[in-house]
Amino acid sequence: MQSRKVSLASILLFISLHFLAVRVSSIDTLRQGDSLNATSQLISSNGAFSLRFYTPPNSDSTYLALWFTGMSRVSSPVWIGNRRNPIPSNSNPTLTLGARGQLAITHDGGGAPIDIYAGRSSPVDNVTATLTDTGNFLVNSNGPAGLFWHSFDQPSDTLLSGMRLGVERSIGRNWTLTSWAAENDPAPGAYSMEWDPSSRNLVVRRRGAVIWRSGALRYYRDEAGQSRAEFENMSIGRDVFNFNFNFTAEEEEEYVMFSVLPFPGSAARVLSGWRLESDGDIVDVDRSMFLARPDAVAEQAAPPPDSAAAGLRAWVGFALAAVVLDLMLFMI
Ligand SMILES: *[C@@H]1O[C@H](CO)[C@@H](O)[C@H](O)[C@H]1NC(C)=O
Ligand SMILES: *[C@@H]1O[C@H](CO)[C@@H](O)[C@H](O)[C@H]1NC(C)=O
Ligand SMILES: *[C@@H]1O[C@H](CO)[C@@H](O)[C@H](O)[C@H]1NC(C)=O
Ligand SMILES: *[C@@H]1O[C@H](CO)[C@@H](O)[C@H](O)[C@H]1NC(C)=O
Ligand SMILES: *[C@@H]1O[C@H](CO)[C@@H](O)[C@H](O)[C@H]1NC(C)=O
Repeated sequence: MQSRKVSLASILLFISLHFLAVRVSSIDTLRQGDSLNATSQLISSNGAFSLRFYTPPNSDSTYLALWFTGMSRVSSPVWIGNRRNPIPSNSNPTLTLGARGQLAITHDGGGAPIDIYAGRSSPVDNVTATLTDTGNFLVNSNGPAGLFWHSFDQPSDTLLSGMRLGVERSIGRNWTLTSWAAENDPAPGAYSMEWDPSSRNLVVRRRGAVIWRSGALRYYRDEAGQSRAEFENMSIGRDVFNFNFNFTAEEEEEYVMFSVLPFPGSAARVLSGWRLESDGDIVDVDRSMFLARPDAVAEQAAPPPDSAAAGLRAWVGFALAAVVLDLMLFMI
């Protein structure tokens, strides 16, 4: 596990993004015929999420990427629209909402448009694409047709609060997380995380083989007497993470979701995300902490204590630096 280094560059980037987020007038919706280009972005109305084109460091591919920008310390997108169909960098990409409700990327250099959502078979009126306050990018109609498509149904490597992980039997679809191939490569990687209906566990697989299980959901009552749930192998401390899970089983579908409970005595924090990293670690993207380290367990060989401690120190350092910056920016 590499330690996270806090470079001056990342601090400057953080500051500039912060100001950019404040200055750019916030548009969260595309109408039919509208498009998003390489320099524009959608920002959810609460400011917590943004959608824009992104070229990872040292990469020659560009992706449509959704970011958790609000209070987050995360430096990677939480959703990628075209992870299997990257487009060449510097090729002037444009995402357009079309007449059939389709969301397609076109770019210089030819090739067919890349469909993020293929749309209906014939034109539909009054369709919009909106980035919501929970980080869901959805295409819907204000007519009776309702919801056409949403990004929560196409998870990348991050489970945001309110997203489902599970199986939808009626249409043979599973909501599954798949890690990136490498730190700067969003292509589908070696690790996946899914719901196993027979054991009712979350499982992490490495190239298809199960290497980690969450254990069962355990129910308990909080101080106020509310029923809460947590996973056996993820009990890292209720006070720290304050996750609550809920599990839904119906004939046609079965899934778990999590929400973040407000932490007593501190600012309400209701959004977070779990990222299944390219090395199999599961981290809380908002608070930069490990929820589980499946590969370390699977190999029965924890990394040398030095590097683990250094990694943690770097994380804590980064979190503190970010908090201090936030306070400074708040006061400006
Ligand atoms: C990109 O979109 C923005 C906002 O709509 C617009 O101001 C800008 O001119 C566009 N840039 C290009 C290169 O088309
Ligand atoms: C589209 O929206 C406009 C304004 O909200 C409304 O007047 C019109 O009837 C809608 N058309 C359809 C087909 O729903
Ligand atoms: C979904 O998950 C179930 C249970 O784990 C599995 O049997 C099935 O093959 C999966 N289906 C798809 C389409 O991945
Ligand atoms: C998780 O919990 C289950 C049930 O207690 C246990 O069998 C399993 O070994 C645990 N740990 C991992 C890493 O899977
Ligand atoms: C599960 O949690 C979501 C919010 O995360 C909530 O909207 C939903 O009502 C909950 N379902 C149950 C059965 O508690």
